[in-house]
Amino acid sequence: FDAVDIIRAKRDGRVLTTEEINWVIAAYTDGTVADYQMAALNMAILLNGMNRQEISTWTSAMIASGERMDFSSLRFPTSDKHSTGGVGDKITLPLAPLVSVFDVAVPQLSGRGLGHTGGTLDKLESIAGWRAALSNDEVMNMLDTVGAVICQAGSGLAPADRKLYALRDVTGTVEAIPLIASSIMSKKIAEGTGSLVLDVKVGSGAFMKNEENARELARTMVDLGKDAGVHTVALLTNMETPLGLTIGNALEVRESVEVLAGGGPADVVDLTVALAVEMLQGAGKDVDDAEVRAALSDGRAMDKWRAMIAGQGGDNDAPLPVAQEQHVITAQASGTLTKLDAYGVGVASWRLGAGRARKEDPVQAGAGIELHAKPGDTVTAGQPLMTLHTDTPERFARAIEIAETAAVIEDTNAFEAPKLIIDR
Ligand code: URA
Repeated sequence: FDAVDIIRAKRDGRVLTTEEINWVIAAYTDGTVADYQMAALNMAILLNGMNRQEISTWTSAMIASGERMDFSSLRFPTSDKHSTGGVGDKITLPLAPLVSVFDVAVPQLSGRGLGHTGGTLDKLESIAGWRAALSNDEVMNMLDTVGAVICQAGSGLAPADRKLYALRDVTGTVEAIPLIASSIMSKKIAEGTGSLVLDVKVGSGAFMKNEENARELARTMVDLGKDAGVHTVALLTNMETPLGLTIGNALEVRESVEVLAGGGPADVVDLTVALAVEMLQGAGKDVDDAEVRAALSDGRAMDKWRAMIAGQGGDNDAPLPVAQEQHVITAQASGTLTKLDAYGVGVASWRLGAGRARKEDPVQAGAGIELHAKPGDTVTAGQPLMTLHTDTPERFARAIEIAETAAVIEDTNAFEAPKLIIDR
């Protein structure tokens, strides 16, 4: 095969053969195909698309570039969740221990944040002593003893995707649905979970800004999961406004612990419970909404959380870091808060130090935003709307500017709350 022929074929809208795809992924992984050639092929795919067979083959080729985990020796069936990324989306933290209460093991191999969306590992690293990097044996041991693990995906899983995603990031080719779907699903299938629930976010704070694209991404990923023998379901959920009342690493851990203690904001609880029910049913457990809620209110999920954190070296009783400086943004007018834009709040939190601009940057554990009102709430001029947190107060000016424009207050009673779960 020749890389230029394959690029030309896709450029001219031809369907690539299985052999061509297998060759180009393997040759890119071992360096035979150059970055600039793969970049050109990605752009041709972004412009001309791939059919279901091509996407499925592309995904299998990326899985074949590395190792696959095998959970068949566990006492429990496995189920996992993947979110396409949002603002204030800390759901994984309460969800993994909650599901494990019902004897379904949760191998949650996660990533770090880049850009305005936070990363699960960054959040958990605000807990003193907690370790993200585990060996495969440690992962198996956590699943066998606790039943849940949240850790860094090892470099052995879908190495082709690691290289490809970094290339797409700098060549304007992240936004191709076939490439996003195969990237996410290659990692989840290689991870070896038996059942998978996808939380596909729609709205300003999400990858997919409109419902049509989100549906297409969800459908493509569900097809890939089914083709690979993984029980896969997708929920389409709202990301026009942040989830819960906190955005930022330690702030989100604090809110997750509130949920595990039987409290917490209703949207975080509702989505956690809905995803838990799907994960359990996917793993063959007929557990309903009320039974799942009971495990939050009676402390069983909290016990699992504490065991999960301690099992990875975390100190459950250490105080969470708090940022050195706070700034309160108040309502400019009285009325109804009709909008609190997820993207704006996410970017402001990122600027405060909760996220990173480059992969190698550190994050501030205490930085972020606490919300004091959510869309639909009646507010009075001068009341606190949000508190901004950072260790580096020179960051306030930019963040305040962005956060202020994210909130819209109108003199109206006609606010209709959007649905949190748009479709299944
Ligand atoms: N997340 C991924 O893992 N891959 C993508 O391509 C986009 C989001």
